[in-house]
Amino acid sequence: MSLLVTGIGELVTNDPATGTLHDAALVADGERIAWIGPAAQAPAADDRLDVQGRAVIPGFVDSHAHPVFAGDRAAEFAARMAGEPYTGGGIRTTVAATRAAGDDDLRSGIRRLLTEMRRQGTTTVEMKSGYGLTVADEVRSLRLAAEVTPETTFLGAHVVPAEYAGRPDDYVALVSGPMLEAVTPYARWVDVFCERGAFDGDQARAILTAGAKAGLGLRIHANQLGAGPGVRLAVELGAASADHCTHLSDADVDALAGSDTVATLLPGAEFSTRSPYPDARRLLDAGVTVALATDCNPGSSYTTSMPFCIALAVRDMRMTPAEAVWAATAGGARALRRDDVGVLRVGARADLVVLDAPSHLHLAYRPGVPLISTVLHDGVPQ
Ligand code: NIG
Ligand code: FE
Repeated sequence: MSLLVTGIGELVTNDPATGTLHDAALVADGERIAWIGPAAQAPAADDRLDVQGRAVIPGFVDSHAHPVFAGDRAAEFAARMAGEPYTGGGIRTTVAATRAAGDDDLRSGIRRLLTEMRRQGTTTVEMKSGYGLTVADEVRSLRLAAEVTPETTFLGAHVVPAEYAGRPDDYVALVSGPMLEAVTPYARWVDVFCERGAFDGDQARAILTAGAKAGLGLRIHANQLGAGPGVRLAVELGAASADHCTHLSDADVDALAGSDTVATLLPGAEFSTRSPYPDARRLLDAGVTVALATDCNPGSSYTTSMPFCIALAVRDMRMTPAEAVWAATAGGARALRRDDVGVLRVGARADLVVLDAPSHLHLAYRPGVPLISTVLHDGVPQ
């Protein structure tokens, strides 16, 4: 089954060989893109979608999300907006709710958030565990996530759970030993929350090194709440991504610039914790590859909206609209080491978004407005 999408007023491809086209068309053949070019030269196809001058961009790649949980923390959010600081301590509240939930509740929570994401243009999503923190609950979280995405991340090292209070090294041994072994069939990546109050540099190194030995790719929650060793550890270990990157020294920025570790910025977290935003301009000017993602989780960033993150990045992190759209699509693909998504070229996945707007600029220019007209995922209109 092939589909001709034509009448594209502006086609953002993210493919340097093609650039941005006007009056363009593309053909999806099954789940792959088969042709891209001027609308006037488009070949015939089984079906036809005329988007009447609208803009088309690659589907968003949300490379950092925590959608496997039960309950919410609306009261914690309200307290924060009344002046309480964010510490990450609320993670344990969600761990208790998640452990108590049945499989069907967790599964329907994941699918509800995935539906929200799809409606807002996200066609690739990474999903972390990290609210189970027992062998059985981490396996369960990743097994359920793997039902809907290949980009699953083991975050057993989210916090030290209450039953290991005072014995963090015993918990690190569990995470890097039996827990890692049990989750490996369901995980592509391993992540650590490397932060004061969670895991220090030595503990993060032990867990990530064990994960790499088990064949998992590496990602790190680094330098979110304060300065720390996370970013440089990510670069040293060849992690695909260092995430948050809010508090960076010049040495951290230099390390990222000299590496192929992506800096994944998560402005929903700064918005929802009322914290200073990371300085994307500083990273971009230094030559660092930047991705944008939602960090969707019930504590620090309960949003599934990539357009919202783009608007924040442009307004408050000094990204241009074009840089922000690239970071939310191609940047996310780099952070997941994927070359088949985040780009519209022949052979890539037919994942794209038709905007209810003539240009990608409108994503930041019209904040909060539902501009997602049609989403194609694997060539299929959603
Ligand atoms: O990325 N930083 C650690 N994990 C999440 C927050 C999780 C939570 O508060 O429940 C984050 O912001
Ligand atoms: Fe996170």
